[in-house]
Amino acid sequence: MIRAYAANEPGGKLEPFEYDPGPLNAGEVEIKVEHCGICHSDISMLNNEWGMTAYPFVPGHEVVGTISEVGDGVENLKVGQRVGLGWHADYCTTCPSCMSGDHNLCPDATGTIIGRHGGFADKVRANSLSVVPLPESLDASKAGPLFCGGITVFNPLVQFDISPTSKVAVIGIGGLGHMALGFLNAWGCEVTAFTSSDSKRKEALELGAHDTLNSRDEKEIEAAAGRFDLILSTVNVKLDWGAYMNTLKPKGRLHFLGATLEPIELGVFSLIAAQRQVSGSPVGSPETIRKMIEFAALHKIEPVTEHFKFDQVNEAIERLESGDARYRVVLSH
Ligand SMILES: NC(=O)c1ccc[n+]([C@@H]2O[C@H](COP(=O)([O-])OP(=O)(O)OC[C@H]3O[C@@H](n4cnc5c(N)ncnc54)[C@H](OP(=O)(O)O)[C@@H]3O)[C@@H](O)[C@H]2O)c1
Ligand SMILES: [Zn+2]
Ligand SMILES: [Zn+2]
Repeated sequence: MIRAYAANEPGGKLEPFEYDPGPLNAGEVEIKVEHCGICHSDISMLNNEWGMTAYPFVPGHEVVGTISEVGDGVENLKVGQRVGLGWHADYCTTCPSCMSGDHNLCPDATGTIIGRHGGFADKVRANSLSVVPLPESLDASKAGPLFCGGITVFNPLVQFDISPTSKVAVIGIGGLGHMALGFLNAWGCEVTAFTSSDSKRKEALELGAHDTLNSRDEKEIEAAAGRFDLILSTVNVKLDWGAYMNTLKPKGRLHFLGATLEPIELGVFSLIAAQRQVSGSPVGSPETIRKMIEFAALHKIEPVTEHFKFDQVNEAIERLESGDARYRVVLSH
């Protein structure tokens, strides 16, 4: 039996929940969970905000642990190895996206917490292709958030070939945003943090930003006209996207990572006149996760974390919802 924490209804409290996972499938591994970050997507899924949650629902997709069992045919991982698991637990492996190495764009990829039980548990299972080794040089208790939040903000730097001379802004300095500041600084970019929390402005500079602006202050946004090559939005709320568009240089890109539910309202002329772009992306492929882990280890980029025990999971979720967490909440056994 796997001992987990599950909610039985949208917004419900998490309660102890046991399930029988059955025999381990070929190609799968079982991970003994040591730590698991709480991503805002866990909360959105818990509340069924995206209309795809199955109950009982076990959240958790920023897992760090050790391999406790390997299924038939698993060649890439061994029992006892330290690993991480993120948003995807499986890929079809044969579609054009998978065949091109863009597994995270696979239309048949399986989410770790979509139609299966996630990492708020003593064990979790996934296809071995989606599980990435974690080097000893990274602190296991802090590394979980790299596997969803971290890869999500790192992936655009790889996808869009961002150069060290680029000027990049990050909107929202939460779980995703604070890791973005560290990655962008190490990448060599000039980094600007847009935050709605005055108390984070000084901290953002310590996390890697060179400058900070208020994400809800029209005048500060207006004064940044024509400044950025790339903006990464990590907020899940509607902001004045038209105003942000004008802070981009010609050919600049406004890139959405945060799952804002309201449609984006934009004037077409601000795109046409300066040949600007609007885009979005989900997490990253296993190979990009591997590269990110290597980059994080080399540059000593670690998530800034607050720690709770698994049996304090409901308090931990409240802490994330309060908006005061600095900057990612992690559960540990
Ligand atoms: N694309 C993907 O693959 C992917 C992967 C993981 C997560 N996500 C999504 O990314 C989003 C962020 O996740 P997270 O875990 O980083 O969440 P988080 O830790 O809660 O951070 C979100 C940040 O947004 C800002 N914010 C919140 N409410 C705001 C408001 N009313 N006005 C302005 N700013 C506001 C806050 O930053 P400040 O205090 O600095 O303003 C907050 O820290 C979520 O929607 C999540 O579902 C997407
Ligand atoms: Zn996530
Ligand atoms: Zn595929």
